[in-house]
Amino acid sequence: MIAWWEPREKPAHRPAPRAGGSSETSPVGTGAASSVSPGGEPAGGPASRPGTRRAGSSLVPGVVTGSHLDSVIDGGAFDGPLGVVSALAAVDQLRAEGFEPGVPIGVGAFVEEEGSRFGMPCLGSRVAAGVLSAEKALALQDRAGVPLAAALEQAGIDPAGVGPSPLLQRMGTFVELHVEQGRGLTAPVGVASSIWPHGRFRFTFGGEANHAGTTLMEDRHDPMLTYAMTALAANKQARLAGARATFGRVSVEPNGTNAVPSQVTAWLDARAADTETLELLLAAITKQATERAERDGTTLEVTAESVSPIVNFPTGLRDRLVGVLDGAPVLPTGAGHDAGVFSDAAIPTAMLFVRNPTGISHSPAEYAEQDDCLAGVDALAAVLKDLAK
Ligand code: GLV
Ligand code: MN
Ligand code: MN
Ligand code: MN
Repeated sequence: MIAWWEPREKPAHRPAPRAGGSSETSPVGTGAASSVSPGGEPAGGPASRPGTRRAGSSLVPGVVTGSHLDSVIDGGAFDGPLGVVSALAAVDQLRAEGFEPGVPIGVGAFVEEEGSRFGMPCLGSRVAAGVLSAEKALALQDRAGVPLAAALEQAGIDPAGVGPSPLLQRMGTFVELHVEQGRGLTAPVGVASSIWPHGRFRFTFGGEANHAGTTLMEDRHDPMLTYAMTALAANKQARLAGARATFGRVSVEPNGTNAVPSQVTAWLDARAADTETLELLLAAITKQATERAERDGTTLEVTAESVSPIVNFPTGLRDRLVGVLDGAPVLPTGAGHDAGVFSDAAIPTAMLFVRNPTGISHSPAEYAEQDDCLAGVDALAAVLKDLAK
């Protein structure tokens, strides 16, 4: 969802709204939208939905900031929520200063960024941006086999409303603040240059269930063995390529201590600094897995569940942020973000990072110092002030 802070006065001439959105709202895309006047009082109602012209105000592209509230399983407190909380705090700060935006400022939160429930990272922003069809999104299932469509219905949301979001027409610029997720930032606040291309690939290893005590080692068709050798190969290939390969999720059938498994499903998360390295990495891991499956008498099927292309944030906008922030450092990231999806959808997009002293993320140990978080709010407020003046 996105909530908007509308300019008080009808703005002078502004560029035309972005093209390419639709006129439907999208609960999975960006969901309900609401507007507040600079004083904080609701100015909402159907006629003021972004994407429609409302009495007394022109539809002009706005500056949207925000992030996500969902987390990985057993994740930290900062990845996602810091960007949403900082967005609200930055808007509060600007209001307290008496700043009057010249264009609307939106604060957004996008669902299922981590893909922890339905397996698709940046699900909300992908649907909103129209890069994932409603049909494919609604068919995604969680681990219990519940399709997204049914989960929405259970939550009282009509799945028919899922689709590209008109809010995108109004997103002139997107700025996401996020905790840094490695040890790449030594200053309190930095600006992103790029996001590594990455993807999620499902490896299904099929074998033959059998007795753990009576089946000779030579007679087994053990998919766990093929998987284990594949995990080792992935680690080695990623090291050789200066890339990343992670098997962080595995499901074993029938999952009994005293039975050779019949099937192992393992999800590979692979990332690299450039697309060619990522493709070569995936090819090398798949080749070694295939060879090992032949040796073990097991089967292998590899399915790409999601692919996120490289994102190079526009340098003009990036340099503008660096200028506003008096020369803040610029750094790439290996983590995925909704900002990457919007940038890919041709919306001018930038990211701010807040220092992570330990570099730990996707863990309860994830941390950022309070002073750095406050510096992040100040930085975001300064950026919004510059972009929305
Ligand atoms: C999300 O944080 C990801 O990079 O997987
Ligand atoms: Mn994350
Ligand atoms: Mn995140
Ligand atoms: Mn992320």
